[in-house]
Amino acid sequence: MESILLVNGPNLNMLGIREVEKYGETSLTEIVSNLEKKAKEKNYALKSFQSNHEGELIDFIQSEGRKAKGLILNAGAFTHTSIALRDAILSVKIPFVEVHLSNIFGRENFRHHSYLSDIAIGIIAGFGKMSYELGLIAIIDFIEKKV
Ligand code: DQA
Repeated sequence: MESILLVNGPNLNMLGIREVEKYGETSLTEIVSNLEKKAKEKNYALKSFQSNHEGELIDFIQSEGRKAKGLILNAGAFTHTSIALRDAILSVKIPFVEVHLSNIFGRENFRHHSYLSDIAIGIIAGFGKMSYELGLIAIIDFIEKKV
């Protein structure tokens, strides 16, 4: 079975506890298991990774990025800061969808800029946990149109 990566950055392990008015009450574990199920229905294995550490995210993308067909990425605050994460994605040439639970463009100015958006296939933001489901649909559609 081909695989799709799901990568979550800092503080996303706190979903369900953290600022629930912005990010919702669902935990990351629940989001991941729902997405695994949905990916499997479409014949993809979902390989999920979360870290609060920039270097660990980069290590994961470097080691897994070339084996997978695509990536769904919520880089959390690293979205707005990390040139290193951007370079890691470019180095493995993996197509990806940038996802955010909240609408980053309706929030503070510093969240309006992303170091990832211009190299992503597209961005999904503002739909809560559904952003991930939409991200999965989008990446599968991209992968299958490319084949
Ligand atoms: C986030 C938005 C980021 O600005 C923030 O730092 C996060 C979560 C989102 O999913 O809405 O950690 O990526």
